Amino acid sequence: MPIGPVIRRLFGRHEHRVAALFRAFFFDINDYKRRLQTWASAPQRILEVGCGEGAVTEALAEIYPGAEIMAIDITPSVGRLYRGSTQRVRFQQVTVEEVARDRPGEFDLVVFSDVIHHVPEALRREVLDAARRSLGPGGLLVLKDWEPRRTPIHWLCHACDRWLTGDRVSHLTSGEMSALLSSVSFRPLSQDVRLRPWANNFALLAHA
Ligand SMILES: C[S@@+](CC[C@H](N)C(=O)[O-])C[C@H]1O[C@@H](n2cnc3c(N)ncnc32)[C@H](O)[C@@H]1O
Repeated sequence: MPIGPVIRRLFGRHEHRVAALFRAFFFDINDYKRRLQTWASAPQRILEVGCGEGAVTEALAEIYPGAEIMAIDITPSVGRLYRGSTQRVRFQQVTVEEVARDRPGEFDLVVFSDVIHHVPEALRREVLDAARRSLGPGGLLVLKDWEPRRTPIHWLCHACDRWLTGDRVSHLTSGEMSALLSSVSFRPLSQDVRLRPWANNFALLAHA
């Protein structure tokens, strides 16, 4: 069992706040919210892939109060720490391939936040292709990830990802991620957008 969940549960009722502080050290979620709103002003049906325990889902529910949000992950703890509105937000432990099969073309925004570096390389095209098939005409993909660099902050991030989650993470550059998206017929639309506080954080916008 990875040590991350064990350590986190030791914080008891403070876990939500500690998790937010830990994230903030690597990634400014408010900067991400502004970026999402710039790129997708009023999506109605959002699919969040790899939502984990629900931190970004909370941000999505806050900035898109009129949207229906389906938040999915392969982990059984999907949505465990979510504290936002539950009226229009649904968490499910399913794969994006199952969503693409059962609800093709139903979404107008798909969001991936720090997910692809956790997906085994051999499965990444399949996962992204399923995300594309879950989007309707004109649908948008926003993908946030962490770029590898020869810097201490990257080594620290990689070590946390590797040892806290137990996953064999491997990071792509923004250019490599754009190429991967193009290989499954996404049309990248954004320039090289970076998010605070570290330049490793990049976000991409693409059309289905
Ligand atoms: C670093 S966490 C990010 C969680 C969340 N997006 C966030 O930013 O708080 C990476 C997540 O990707 C999920 N994941 C890994 N492979 C996946 C796959 N094939 N499909 C869906 N989720 C996956 C993991 O279970 C984990 O919850």
